[in-house]
Amino acid sequence: MSDAINPLITEQLDALLYEETNLVANLANASALLMQTLTDVNWTGFYLYQKASDDLILGPFQGNVACVHIENGSGVCGTALATQTVQRVPDVHQFAGHIACDSASNSEVVVPLTLADGTQLGVMDIDSPSLDRFTVADQAVLEEFARVLLKHIDKV
Ligand code: SME
Repeated sequence: MSDAINPLITEQLDALLYEETNLVANLANASALLMQTLTDVNWTGFYLYQKASDDLILGPFQGNVACVHIENGSGVCGTALATQTVQRVPDVHQFAGHIACDSASNSEVVVPLTLADGTQLGVMDIDSPSLDRFTVADQAVLEEFARVLLKHIDKV
C-alpha cells in the first residue's frame, strides 16, 4: 500500500541540509530521508555524472546493492540524463533498455539534476516494488525535492 508523497518532505530536506553544502553528505542524507519517509519504495538514491567517461556512477543510496556504471542514454537513469527530462515509469518491464539492478523494482521516477551553473550532477532515482506507484503529484513533489537539494549543493 502506498501513500501520496507528502509535500512537507521538501521542507524537511531544507531543514536537514541547513548550512551544509558537502555533496556526499547531502546526497546521503537526502537518500535516507526519502527511504524513511516514503512508503512502498525499495531503492532511493543517486547516480553521478562523470564527464570524462560520459556515464553515470553509483552515488549515495538506500536499498539493495546496485549497478555501478550506467551509460548515458541507457535505462531509465541514462534516458533521464540524456534527455534532461524527468522519467516517470509506471512499469519498468515495458521500458526498453531498463536496467534491472534490483529485481524487486516495478515502477520508478528518475529526476535529472543540473547545478545552477549548468553542470550536470547526475540523477535521483526512486524505485518501487509496486506497479504505477508514482502519480503526477508525487512526481511534482520529487521535482521540488530535487530543486531544494540542488540549492544546498555548492559545486561538484
Ligand atoms: N532502474 C535504473 C537502474 C538503477 S537501479 O534501479 C538502482 C535504470 O533502469 O536506469
